[in-house]
Amino acid sequence: MTQQPNWSPRFESGLHPHIARFNASINFDIELIEYDITGSQAHAKMLAHTGIISELEGEQLVSGLEQIRQEYRSGKFTPGVDAEDVHFAVERRLTEITGDVGKKLHTARSRNDQVGTDTRLYLRAQIEQIQRQIREFQSVLLDIAEQNVETLIPGYTHLQRAQPLSLAHHLLAYFQMLERDCQRLSDVRRRVNISPLGCGALAGTTFPIDRHYTAELLHFDAVYENSLDGVSDRDFAIEFTCAASLIMVHLSRLAEEVIFWASQEFGFVTLLDSCATGSSIMPQKKNPDVPELVRGKTGRVFGHLQALLVMMKGLPLAYNKDLQEDKEGLFDSVKTVTDCLESMTILLREGLQFRNRRLADAVCEDFSNATDVADYLATKGVPFREAYNLVGKVVKTCIATNKLLKDLTLEEWKQLHPAFEADIYQAINPLQVVAARNSYGGTGFTQVREALKNARATLNVPTR
Ligand code: ARG
Repeated sequence: MTQQPNWSPRFESGLHPHIARFNASINFDIELIEYDITGSQAHAKMLAHTGIISELEGEQLVSGLEQIRQEYRSGKFTPGVDAEDVHFAVERRLTEITGDVGKKLHTARSRNDQVGTDTRLYLRAQIEQIQRQIREFQSVLLDIAEQNVETLIPGYTHLQRAQPLSLAHHLLAYFQMLERDCQRLSDVRRRVNISPLGCGALAGTTFPIDRHYTAELLHFDAVYENSLDGVSDRDFAIEFTCAASLIMVHLSRLAEEVIFWASQEFGFVTLLDSCATGSSIMPQKKNPDVPELVRGKTGRVFGHLQALLVMMKGLPLAYNKDLQEDKEGLFDSVKTVTDCLESMTILLREGLQFRNRRLADAVCEDFSNATDVADYLATKGVPFREAYNLVGKVVKTCIATNKLLKDLTLEEWKQLHPAFEADIYQAINPLQVVAARNSYGGTGFTQVREALKNARATLNVPTR
């Protein structure tokens, strides 16, 4: 059995059924239907506005399209592979509803400028939604940070204990990453929000259309200046997927930290039942599936970015069917980022608890105050490198004798260097170690309190 084609009578027979399926995009571009309808309504209004069709015809098209929207929402409109794509599906249904008027909708338009318009409208809405989610996630991070200014957590470089931190400072680092993500999306949005509608198939149109009119109706900021570029540009999709990849990088880094914080080896957080999973065989297990899935899903967004770049790199101007391949990766990137942001927000808001006792013990059990001993001597006039070497030796002896710096007696300190006084104990106390890092952007409590205030204020800044 062959499928009836949607195109002109120059075709005598239908498509091979496999090829019909292979060619069709309806199974995934149905996602665009509401944007397709909105775009077509703007196009119909423009056709009437410029006198290309009558006012009455314009109104009939707009209300027919609205009916399709309602039919779709109520589950009555479910086009199949025979429609090929969402654009044909909507146009065909419109003709069923409005009769011959429906056949006028495609005047002065091509599916090439149409699909570009739909994809941009879709992406603009998704960007706004993702930005709202980022703000929500940031506010959860901030809530936890505000309650934990003086909760200390070991800080690491090379995953080796380095210097203790305020937990708030640690969480604010993620706040900042997410802030850049939010800004990046605003920036991408500027280039998403340009209208290709009216570029036609590739060269513009013979009709006296008004591209600025449709752009305004659809709240685009500008129109593409060149029709060839307008129908074949997918930079905006690549940029979005790149921004989405970076969001995933940030979520995945936090996910990784949560995973090892929840391990018995670290024990910095407890996973609560609402966000933890069990094992089918080991009854004692409580697994961090949520952050693991976030970490695991990151790769697919990177993959979509790569696929888009490769898909574009060899395309001659203008539209090529390859471009139909932009959608599934884009949709999946949106879905993945949306799902992961939501999951991480829930996980942080109600799925885990920091174990403050354990954290307080953790920062006392290591040599992460060694820099402060060197700094102590340097403040007293010992050149830093000399002080650094001296403390290195002290650490070595302490390790050999199974002691920590705080276990040394004042006499021992004085033997190491006469500049040591009783206030060395205060200087190496973890709270003081953190408080003392009061340089701008550092973990010192004064800095962190200031940073928290600024972060709160950021949340009230509109994303655009
Ligand atoms: N389904 C197509 C896509 O997603 C719509 C544009 C088709 N244009 C064409 N010249 N065949 O790209």
